[in-house]
Amino acid sequence: MSLSDFSQELIATARALAESGKGILAVDESTKTVGKRLGSINVENTEANRQAYRGMLFTTAGLGQYISGAILYEETLFQNHADGESMVQKLQKLGVIPGIKVDQGLRPLPGAGSVETLCTGLDGLVERAADYYAQGARFAKWRAVLQITADGCPSDLSVRENAWGLARYARSVQESGLVPIIEPEILMDGDHTIEVTAAVQERVIQEVYQACHANGVLLEGTLLKPSMTVQGADCSQKADPKIVAEMTVRTLERSVPASVPGIVFLSGGLSEEAASIYLNTMNSIPKKASWNLGFSYGRALQHSCLKAWKGSETESGQAALLARARANSEASQGCYVAGSQPSSDEQLFVAGYTY
Ligand code: 13P
Repeated sequence: MSLSDFSQELIATARALAESGKGILAVDESTKTVGKRLGSINVENTEANRQAYRGMLFTTAGLGQYISGAILYEETLFQNHADGESMVQKLQKLGVIPGIKVDQGLRPLPGAGSVETLCTGLDGLVERAADYYAQGARFAKWRAVLQITADGCPSDLSVRENAWGLARYARSVQESGLVPIIEPEILMDGDHTIEVTAAVQERVIQEVYQACHANGVLLEGTLLKPSMTVQGADCSQKADPKIVAEMTVRTLERSVPASVPGIVFLSGGLSEEAASIYLNTMNSIPKKASWNLGFSYGRALQHSCLKAWKGSETESGQAALLARARANSEASQGCYVAGSQPSSDEQLFVAGYTY
């Protein structure tokens, strides 16, 4: 089997994931990261508790109305719910497509700036992706990270290496039938202005698509997962939602090919409410391009839910998840009314955040 055997299926899966009014639930935190989340509600990081938490998410009645896909960590893709049914079956019953994080984390990038990293996991990826496909996954995620610093990062080396890694990953998983979510995250760390972020992000995304071209990636069978174009977390000039929306749309229009069916933003440390408002504003202003602008949030979909769940309150946790899923579904259609669903304004940004 190769990419050409899967091309029609890849295109159909990418379209289904990018369906208007739906977005992606990112629940692919590594065991260490989910441990920090569970720790914040005083729940121990055991396999049983991870199973209970994610099992609660994946049995939320009606979730498929707002959520097209869920990105899982490997443990979850092969895990059963406590009732014996697999997590994959639980998602399929809701009409949610299972996906899988396939990168194996960040490592320092020799020869680049001290904060710069490369993303690992290319070795054996075609074969691993085939195993994930057999287990029910239909899409994948790979997160490359770039950081803006006063001393010139991201360096050309880091932009090139991370773009190339994303493109090699995208082609590799397409060979085994998985739609790649291409995620070049620009961290919010720093005090740079929104204009600086926009210039860096244009350069990064353009390089990503050049690398995709060189690797023969089928763009119609991919999704882009960018950060929004925002100022650094420590910048004193805070852009309002309209500026963020306009700058983000401009950045994407300048760098994303029209053949990409959907753009699903990460929340990157924005509060739940800000992530919804920015997305809603983007979908309310005039645009030249016709991609669906949706969401693939982790923290901005799970924060209130985790707090409401508290380790055992299934109904409260599910109600909180459904509220944010619905809010972001509305935002992806430009009809979200700020504050109409319970949410949190708490900044979820953590400097030097690792996934
Ligand atoms: P956040 O929305 O919390 O940034 O997570 C999305 C994600 O999948 C990052 O890789």
